[in-house]
Amino acid sequence: SLLAPAPQELAGKRVLITAGGTRENIDPVRFIGNRSSGKMGVSLATAAAAMGAQVTLIVGQVSVGLPDSPQVEVVHVESTEELLAAVQDHFTKTDALVMAAAVADYRPVKAAAEKVKKTSEHDEWAIKLVETPDILQTVAKTKRPDQVVVGFAAETQHLLANAQRKLASKGADIIVANQVGGPSSAFASEDDQVTILTPDATPDRWPKMSKNAVAQRIMKLLGQKLKLGD
Ligand code: CTP
Ligand code: CA
Repeated sequence: SLLAPAPQELAGKRVLITAGGTRENIDPVRFIGNRSSGKMGVSLATAAAAMGAQVTLIVGQVSVGLPDSPQVEVVHVESTEELLAAVQDHFTKTDALVMAAAVADYRPVKAAAEKVKKTSEHDEWAIKLVETPDILQTVAKTKRPDQVVVGFAAETQHLLANAQRKLASKGADIIVANQVGGPSSAFASEDDQVTILTPDATPDRWPKMSKNAVAQRIMKLLGQKLKLGD
């Protein structure tokens, strides 16, 4: 072939990746969601599989096609609660967890059992929300020394300070920080400019590149971290 095969830097490794947005039910016909396309998580899964990993991809709502490969097992979830349960179910078996999912931070306190109807009495509707569990933080607490946990930080301002805080508070080994909402917005965009934060090095600003290229570089970095831990 004219194409050189991808180096198998993750051969024999198990990688757990979450992708897409969660949905929190308001009632049987309505939910709270977000604008995540799931592109980064899916690109990560594809890159990891190309490097020889056995991948479990846990997906919420995605607007891109899912990888069709014997090396990628796909698990579908909807809510944050389901995502947490699925991640916990797979975490002990995995060498690395990459939390690329856009997880709802709040959910309705209680989803209504029946469709909420319009009434003539009021023209406002306040939905009371409660914070969801932080999946990354919860799971990273149970991490073994041989496991690597990667998180993302989506920020509209104070990128490095906020990302640094997330690295520490969540107990992640790597945080991939990106600016959202600005001219180089990460949501629904093909290109991405990220900065890599690790506990033991200064932030590493990567040039702007395609999401596929970012995903490949993240998986390469993950392969190096896993090798160091051998
Ligand atoms: N995350 C998670 N569980 C949550 C919220 C976020 O596991 N309930 C993960 C995301 O998948 C991501 C990282 O935590 O890898 C950071 O998500 P982000 O939304 O940037 O940060 P938050 O901690 O939710 O803080 P905020 O949204 O207020 O910036
Ligand atoms: Ca959040």
